[in-house]
Amino acid sequence: MTSRTFPDHFLWGGAVAANQVEGAWNEDGKGPNLADAMTLGSKDTPRRITLDIDDKSYFYPSHKASDGYHRFKEDIELFHEMGFRIFRMSISWARIFPNGDEDTPNEAGLAFYDRVFAELEKYEIEPLVTIYHNEMPLHLVTDGGWANRKTIDYYLNFAETIMRRYKNVVRYWIPFNEINDLTTPVGNWNHGGILNPGTQYFQDQKDDTDRRYQALHNQFVASAKAVSLGRKINPGFHFGTMICYITVYPLTPKPEDVLAAQQENALRNFFSGDVQMKGEYPYFAEKYFLNHDIHFERTKEDLEAIKSGCCDFYSFSYYMSNCVSTDPSSAQVSGNIMGGAKNPYLKATEWNWQIDPVGLRYTLNAIYDRYHTPIMITENGIGAKDTMSPDGAIHDDYRIAYIRSHIEQMALAIADGVDLIGYTPWTAIDVVSCSTGEMAKRYGFIYVDADDSGNGTYNRIRKDSFFWYQKVIRSNGSDLD
Ligand code: BG6
Repeated sequence: MTSRTFPDHFLWGGAVAANQVEGAWNEDGKGPNLADAMTLGSKDTPRRITLDIDDKSYFYPSHKASDGYHRFKEDIELFHEMGFRIFRMSISWARIFPNGDEDTPNEAGLAFYDRVFAELEKYEIEPLVTIYHNEMPLHLVTDGGWANRKTIDYYLNFAETIMRRYKNVVRYWIPFNEINDLTTPVGNWNHGGILNPGTQYFQDQKDDTDRRYQALHNQFVASAKAVSLGRKINPGFHFGTMICYITVYPLTPKPEDVLAAQQENALRNFFSGDVQMKGEYPYFAEKYFLNHDIHFERTKEDLEAIKSGCCDFYSFSYYMSNCVSTDPSSAQVSGNIMGGAKNPYLKATEWNWQIDPVGLRYTLNAIYDRYHTPIMITENGIGAKDTMSPDGAIHDDYRIAYIRSHIEQMALAIADGVDLIGYTPWTAIDVVSCSTGEMAKRYGFIYVDADDSGNGTYNRIRKDSFFWYQKVIRSNGSDLD
């Protein structure tokens, strides 16, 4: 049996993102952002992207989301009851700069987050703030999004504004959520703010690799400059990467499969983390650009900025692993940014994401071996349909089983010697799904009484996993029963 030992100050908590939890999409001066232009979809129906928001014809899940904007006090009190020591959240750019290119921020937006941080402080919950989580003002999207270099300056204005305003209450910052999503076409829209001609649906986007890698490069520069700036504002700040880590195994020991897996891991998982942690483009990325005829602008000044603005901790999301195969007839599964070949040893969720707790230990060791810095798991969880039993309870034993099995592997990784400092599972409370817009794809410890179309009381209900996670935190990870 494992001896489960977590460090005394291990940061147990949970995560959300502004566009998926807040709602209040046009209140108190907030401008529309790119998430506000995505309609409701499902596992089988893709989300439509409409630059003109047409409330009469479509339902847009982010407009009300989980109504967190109006209920954050109640939510934070529940996080406190669960015992959170850290809470990962994001700040909505369009709440602070409605169009993105203004010089002066929207005071009402800043004041909202003042109230959120005051509430967290009251309960001694450490905020972990993602500056950019899948949303930018829609106005900037129409100007090329992240493929436009001017966006770097607009982002820096936003980042500087919030880092100055909250410099005494926030210590942990993540410049970009899942920055590596731009290594795949699905990242164009909500990561890059890029809408190529002909794109209508989130799941089926037209791609222009030059633009996409230009956008990713611009984000690397923006991230590094934000880090350098933040360190001047408060030398006590900590900055983390956030990588969507999908561990890739070879489907068979056939050397070609093994090589394909190595290359896929390098590009999807290591490339962006290497730039943010080591301050330079890795050799294999250059080879990839050459082989795929990818060209974009990188100035000497950009590369110097990247070199001097490295992150100091590594964070990542972990939901699944996938396989690669050189056999085109192999069965396929899905994933948040990429699918892959089906692993015969793993089960999958209803949305066909493979469940692989042992892969988390493997991944933690691979990351630590590469970077040797503290690590946080900033997303991990299972999207599942919850049903309320007649007594009003939500018996989500599948969620408990998923999280328990991953925490067990975290403990083993710590015993291996990995410096894991925190865990913020996705999600603290139910939010609308990013890929499908559904409320029914639930991840939270707290149930939000709303359906996919926004009907319901939006009341908060503690699930069984709430009480279980409370016990886990109280015992500092030793009681997982
Ligand atoms: C991550 C994102 O990729 O996956 C979250 O950072 C997202 O925003 C999460 O919600 C789960 O994905 P989905 O599509 O099931 O909501």
